[in-house]
Amino acid sequence: MTDTLTTAPVAPLLARLFAEADEAAIGLNAMAAALPPGELARLMHSRTEYVDFYTRLKDQPLPVSRATGALLYMLARSTGAHAIVEFGTSFGLSTLHLAAALRDNGGGGRLVTCEFEPSKVARARANLVAAGLDDLVEVREGDALQTLARDLPGAIDLVLLDGAKALYPEILSLLEPRLRPGALVVADNADHSPEYLARVRSAGGGYLSTPFGGDVEVSMRLG
Ligand SMILES: C[S@@+](CC[C@H](N)C(=O)[O-])C[C@H]1O[C@@H](n2cnc3c(N)ncnc32)[C@H](O)[C@@H]1O
Repeated sequence: MTDTLTTAPVAPLLARLFAEADEAAIGLNAMAAALPPGELARLMHSRTEYVDFYTRLKDQPLPVSRATGALLYMLARSTGAHAIVEFGTSFGLSTLHLAAALRDNGGGGRLVTCEFEPSKVARARANLVAAGLDDLVEVREGDALQTLARDLPGAIDLVLLDGAKALYPEILSLLEPRLRPGALVVADNADHSPEYLARVRSAGGGYLSTPFGGDVEVSMRLG
């Protein structure tokens, strides 16, 4: 039985990384509480200030929740995903879940993930090496608006959107021509991108979409 997610080296590595993220979030929450009312939401919705916003958060892991991580692994396993694209790598916690699923699906596979903060790219790569999953993952350094505009897998099975929320619609537009019928798009904290939600939920928009678990939107490409 292949069970990369819940066995060593991945399981203890993820346990440590999530514990460190919990610790870091204490400072982050204090920082957020000190902002003027509405400022955090404004920054999260901004199309122009995302580089500055996330650069200030370069030491923060900002991972998906443990539950969303498990969901990503399950979706990638149950769909037999071989081609996955991720927007927003950070320290690579979600990436580890997705890459573990590729490993357990067998037959190789490819995960393209992107991050513009160089120190995060280095951390994510180191975590993937520690997990023994780096052979499955291409971490593209730079703004995803550029790095996901080229050389995508021919038929994408699964997407995780977890970078700047205001860019979700544009990133979806870059990936959409490559989504296979039935492909899943998981968008973390999509409530910060009303335009994205309106698009994937619109009748005749090409997706079946539902909120899931309180902070995630799961959409399936029709066709
Ligand atoms: C919420 S974190 C990702 C967390 C990661 N998915 C995980 O679960 O471990 C968002 C990351 O996306 C990166 N990011 C935001 N906008 C980006 C863009 N346009 N291109 C590349 N990276 C971006 C940020 O620097 C940040 O590290």
